[in-house]
Amino acid sequence: MNRKINIVAVSGSLRATSSNSLLIKEIQKWAPENVELTVYQGLAKLPAFDDSMEPSESVSAWRNELAAADGVLICSPEYAFGVPGALKNAIDWTVGSSELVNKPLALITAASGGDKAHAAWLQIFSALSADIPTGGDLLIPFIRTKFNDKGEVSDIATKESILNTVQALIQAIEQKASKAD
Ligand SMILES: Cc1cc2nc3c(=O)[nH]c(=O)nc-3n(C[C@H](O)[C@H](O)[C@H](O)COP(=O)(O)O)c2cc1C
Repeated sequence: MNRKINIVAVSGSLRATSSNSLLIKEIQKWAPENVELTVYQGLAKLPAFDDSMEPSESVSAWRNELAAADGVLICSPEYAFGVPGALKNAIDWTVGSSELVNKPLALITAASGGDKAHAAWLQIFSALSADIPTGGDLLIPFIRTKFNDKGEVSDIATKESILNTVQALIQAIEQKASKAD
């Protein structure tokens, strides 16, 4: 691609001290030169899904941001053995409008355990026909133990796994672009 790759990153957590949001900040620092990684900031402003009403400005902006992205990076916690409601709500707003269909997408689930949310997200994104490439999903359990006190990922194996996951996403984006040429 002879322009920057545009990836939208979404943290499934609204918590001020979110480990998933911290992960995204770290990934932003590590992103290769040819990648622009922007963080979606509107999760808390989306109304509860209801397709009998006209989409609000916030919903249209969310859909447009996804549509314009070459790829999407989701970093999600697990809450109460399930996916976090705010992010699931945001994803529900894309079901009818199809922004995630064939969209290269990487999924990182970072939680204390996280296996249930990770499995659920894989099913959800499969239902939406998002393109999660081989190597493009990663479960990070015991996430709180992977950071140092500066909020940096200090666990080398975790950092490597994250870089590999992001690389799988970038490759999927490049392959899709080369097919379109
Ligand atoms: C309301 C709540 C529910 C949680 N439920 C689970 C759970 O079911 N499974 C799990 O592995 N961790 C659970 N945790 C722990 C989270 O995985 C952990 O706090 C993680 O850092 C949350 O991600 P965040 O910091 O990005 O919000 C829960 C945390 C909260 C605040």
